[in-house]
Amino acid sequence: MGGEAEKWVLMVTARTPTNIAVIKYWGKRDETLILPINDSISVTLDPNHLCTTTTVSVSPSFDQDRMWLNGKEISLQGGRFQSCLREIRARAQDVEDKKKGIKINKEDWQKLNLHIASYNNFPTAAGLASSAAGLACLVFSLAKLMNLKEDNSQLSAIARQGSGSACRSLYGGFVKWCMGKEENGSDSLAVQLADEKHWDDLVIIIAVVSARQKETSSTSGMRDTVVTSALIDHRAKEVVPKRIVEMEDAIQKKDFPSFARLACTDSNQFHAVCLDTYPPIFYMNDTSHRIISCVEKWNRAEGTPQVAYTFDAGPNAVMIARDRKTAASLLQRLLYNFPPQSDVDLDSYVIGDKSILQDAGIKDMKDVEGLTATPEVKDSILSEKSKGDVSYFICTRPGGGPVVLADESHALLDSVTGLPNA
Ligand code: DP6
Repeated sequence: MGGEAEKWVLMVTARTPTNIAVIKYWGKRDETLILPINDSISVTLDPNHLCTTTTVSVSPSFDQDRMWLNGKEISLQGGRFQSCLREIRARAQDVEDKKKGIKINKEDWQKLNLHIASYNNFPTAAGLASSAAGLACLVFSLAKLMNLKEDNSQLSAIARQGSGSACRSLYGGFVKWCMGKEENGSDSLAVQLADEKHWDDLVIIIAVVSARQKETSSTSGMRDTVVTSALIDHRAKEVVPKRIVEMEDAIQKKDFPSFARLACTDSNQFHAVCLDTYPPIFYMNDTSHRIISCVEKWNRAEGTPQVAYTFDAGPNAVMIARDRKTAASLLQRLLYNFPPQSDVDLDSYVIGDKSILQDAGIKDMKDVEGLTATPEVKDSILSEKSKGDVSYFICTRPGGGPVVLADESHALLDSVTGLPNA
């Protein structure tokens, strides 16, 4: 190690996307290494709308590893954080910053402490896979700081040990997490199926659904499912392997009807095995069910799927529209059926890519009030509109993978003290 009076701070800032599974991961065969019982496939969401930014720093003046999430200090003692830190430190290489006169030999990384600051550009508690983006970003930024030689796929096997779904956030576009066969988990990693430009017609609208109760965490929910569900084995061994092959083919061919059928039926089956868990787990609520009904009725009326839906371990709906025109019609339907409470303005009710609102011809709340029922929902449960069941909508699209933010203005830690910027 070198540098004047050992006062130096070296840091890296990176940004990593979140992802939504269209063929779900649910169930582990190894709880510590986080090895799944089936392959899964996800779509990476545009980091401009949903991402984690993380700054990692190292200095001989730090006396312990510390981490801040959205400005609040959190503990790094958990086994999952510790696994990621251990795996990365074990692969660290020599690092030299000639300008700053810093030289770190690879053995030094075991003794040096880290400061880590992470920030989500979306509400952390909203159930939007913040841990996937967070853990992936932690691993990716540390790998850059410590000059690891591993590629993103190999890094995904480290991120996996922080949270299973995090391994799929190491790539943009369409990503497959191969469950692997090895006991040590070395082949349980993510691979990119296609990048975000491959199928760029798709538009994604997320309904953040107001939840009344705290949900069962994915970790404990899937553990209970594996132990008690009579259906999970059939899902993992028979159903998912076939769907994975079909989904890869649908993505490659940009075959929307197959993509939508597979995504919807897989989400429904995941929630069915949750219901088959004892005691049962209810992640979707009434609003989620009404959203499904809205999409299913429309798809049926059109004769071919216009929109796919998928739900993770919570009531939020992620809807994937086949193109922009469809997304604009979807948004009209959603705003008609799920209007905001009277004190909410349109600007905060529809966030993300607001150009979809323009396409839908909606400029203000008057336009929302002027929307009329579409033929397929007349006389259905959807005719009962209730305000405030959806907290807000996010319009987004498939997006790119992790990137280093070289411009120091993005850093979340002070370059002199290594403490969070105010
Ligand atoms: C329903 O990755 O959160 O979102 O591995 O225990 O951290 P752990 O679980 P997590 O589970 C995600 C489950 C899911 C489906 C998916 O993302 O594939």
